[in-house]
Amino acid sequence: MNIYYAPMEGITTYLYRQLHNKYFGGVDTYFTPFISVFPDHYIKKRDEREIDPANNEGMRVVPQVLANSSKELIWIFKKLTSMGYDEVNLNLGCPSGTVTAKGRGSGFLKEPDKLGTFFDEVFDSLGDDARKLSVKTRIGYLDASEMEHLSKIYARYPIKELTIHPRIRKQFYKGVPDMEVFEKALMMSSCPVCYNGNVFTLDDYNKINDRYGYQEGSDLHDVSGGLKEGSGLHDIGGMTKDTLDIHDINGDLSKDITLHYHMNTAGSADNKISSVMLGRGIVADPSLARQIKGGSHMDKAEFKEFRRALEAMYKENLKDGNNVFNKMKEMWFYMSQSFEGSEGYIKNILKSKSYAEYLAAANTLEGNCDIKSGPNASPVSF
Ligand SMILES: Cc1cc2nc3c(=O)[nH]c(=O)nc-3n(C[C@H](O)[C@H](O)[C@H](O)COP(=O)(O)O)c2cc1C
Repeated sequence: MNIYYAPMEGITTYLYRQLHNKYFGGVDTYFTPFISVFPDHYIKKRDEREIDPANNEGMRVVPQVLANSSKELIWIFKKLTSMGYDEVNLNLGCPSGTVTAKGRGSGFLKEPDKLGTFFDEVFDSLGDDARKLSVKTRIGYLDASEMEHLSKIYARYPIKELTIHPRIRKQFYKGVPDMEVFEKALMMSSCPVCYNGNVFTLDDYNKINDRYGYQEGSDLHDVSGGLKEGSGLHDIGGMTKDTLDIHDINGDLSKDITLHYHMNTAGSADNKISSVMLGRGIVADPSLARQIKGGSHMDKAEFKEFRRALEAMYKENLKDGNNVFNKMKEMWFYMSQSFEGSEGYIKNILKSKSYAEYLAAANTLEGNCDIKSGPNASPVSF
């Protein structure tokens, strides 16, 4: 199973990704927070830094973009692939009012016919290269029944991978994912599928994997094709395998990442997911992806080091000092959920009005609460 760190605006920025990868790892692919493409073919300076290959060394990063015109998407897609990115992800899930009002993110789901025309133009124009386009979608704008029609549209195109977050727009990130609709969408898919939503613990992951994952190793018995020369891609029965060389900042090979894609067939009850994408679960417990890969749960010493590295990184990079402790408050909102009995202490962190107040409150929580452990160490209040 491929394990992805979800795009999270304001959280999984490149500085955070670098630290997470250094201290915990376990993630096969990091997604950038969404990058808005402006009509005159322009992206913000901040987003240029997100996609600068020098800032993404040593890990596989997929840039995520927000666009609703084929011209915008084609422009950013070409820019990113010419920089060496082997995948570009289209955001069809963002629920924010300012985004949906412009018909972007989940707002694009309101207009399925326009979405179909958009994909026709994109796939026609990009030809084979369009196979590098992946999509992250919700299951509808107003109602989950929209997913049936949307699934038929997605099934018309060779999308690299379809990430399904089974909520509708108005839920934002609340309520339980609609697994019935997810299952139907998985069955209707003709491309590899990634599941996303409420995977907060190792147990949560195991349940999703047991129910929807292909069985690791099953490909060993069914090899139907060899390495396609130069592409790093293998065809293996109903699977493709993509082995990528990841380089560190010196340009040296630092690791290989092998991604497995289960090739689905529209209408087949045998369809499987290839990947699981986790967001809030990893922010809360940065060792979660590592645990999924068979590694250890974080301990207090490791957390302390990571937290101090985060503080130092924000101090160095955020010009306004207030932003540093506001950013750390946001991180603690999630991270505190990995600590036993942190409910009272987190309030003091969130109430703090200066960096000194923040630091005292964070040290108190860290000093007084143990890290939850075990496969069910569940964040409680998302
Ligand atoms: C603070 C925050 C920022 C997010 N930013 C993005 C984003 O930039 N792009 C995107 O596709 N999804 C974004 N999401 C949604 C997540 O990628 C993910 O779909 C959602 O959190 C559900 O997964 P989870 O239950 O594992 O957290 C964001 C979610 C949160 C809470």
